[in-house]
Amino acid sequence: MTKKIVSDLDLKGKTVLVRADFNVPMKDGEITDDNRIVQALPTIKYIAEQGGKVVLFSHLGKVKEESDKASLSLKPVAADLSKKLSKEVVFVPTTRGEQLETAIKGLDEGEILLVENTRFEDVDGKKESKNDSELGEYWASLGDLFVNDAFGTAHREHASNVGIASHLETAAGYLMDKEIKYIGGVVENPDKPVVAILGGAKVSDKIGVITNLLKIADKVLIGGGMSYTFFKAQGKEIGQSLLEEDKVDFAKDLLDRAGDQIVLPVDCKVAKEFSNDAEISVVSVDDIPADQEAMDVGPKTVELFKEQLQGAHTVVWNGPMGVFELSNFAKGTIGICEAIAELKDANTIIGGGDSAAAAISLGYADDFSHISTGGGASLEYLEGKTLPGVESISDK
Ligand code: 3PG
Repeated sequence: MTKKIVSDLDLKGKTVLVRADFNVPMKDGEITDDNRIVQALPTIKYIAEQGGKVVLFSHLGKVKEESDKASLSLKPVAADLSKKLSKEVVFVPTTRGEQLETAIKGLDEGEILLVENTRFEDVDGKKESKNDSELGEYWASLGDLFVNDAFGTAHREHASNVGIASHLETAAGYLMDKEIKYIGGVVENPDKPVVAILGGAKVSDKIGVITNLLKIADKVLIGGGMSYTFFKAQGKEIGQSLLEEDKVDFAKDLLDRAGDQIVLPVDCKVAKEFSNDAEISVVSVDDIPADQEAMDVGPKTVELFKEQLQGAHTVVWNGPMGVFELSNFAKGTIGICEAIAELKDANTIIGGGDSAAAAISLGYADDFSHISTGGGASLEYLEGKTLPGVESISDK
């Protein structure tokens, strides 16, 4: 069923509640990665331009007790938003009550307000995270319409997404709509041939994704720390490389069933220490020294994966190829970024998390069809699961 989007709504003069995902990394009160804020701007601007009164909700981090609140206020996000929009964003330092209600009533058309971290409600009985029905109903009572643009939170069934949506006409924001089209498109109706590239440290994080993508993709290329559990399953020496002993049987079973649908690295970069200063060598995956750890794929693997990508109409990538945070072990991840960026005729999608952060920090933000803002949400979507935040949007 096609979901309503924000442009389907009559917004003029309406109080429009908007769930965004402003769960951004912060250090000492400073936002260290503003991508989610940048991606939320089109929806906010559109509603304001149409004469809606914008009331923004988001969570930030996990709020378990009163003392967590000091470092998890959304106030820095309001300041950043205001700068980006070049207009005032009223910040209300509470999640309910007279101060909030009066501030919302005082909004004029086109004005914007940000409510304090929705998870402040979790201190008192996890009301937000348990989708407390009274809380969802209360928040919904503050507006006329609901726009859910928080794809990053779509795998959660919380009061500020699913709860509000059960009381108001709900539409997807532009970011949510894009995520549904691209990430949803990979699982529901991809343009074939499809090549999936999976990396990251752990097989256990990706079991659902590998299993589902093997049903969809023509090839699944596996790199990163998790590939060493697959090599172990093939009986290879993997030295000190990452291993999930209890996933070796799973890896073996997949390799037996998938045959040449799964493509593994052929070489890797090894070192004795987990450090940028360590002495590095490139070895075949058949020759990993017992006292060394593999921390990146090698150049032959980048070439092999590049060949596998040729002719693909849809490419989906989730998980870095190595320890890209250390520059000496970033070449594999950069090589894959470059290889995907060169595919001009393919739909190229990065499924969130570390690979999205890697692509953006390495300077490839504009070279893909879509870089997801979801971490857990894109993984669950790629696993083929139904996301409650998406489901609760009204049908057209
Ligand atoms: C995320 O960063 O993946 C989302 O904002 C969801 O956050 P959560 O895992 O704390 O629910």
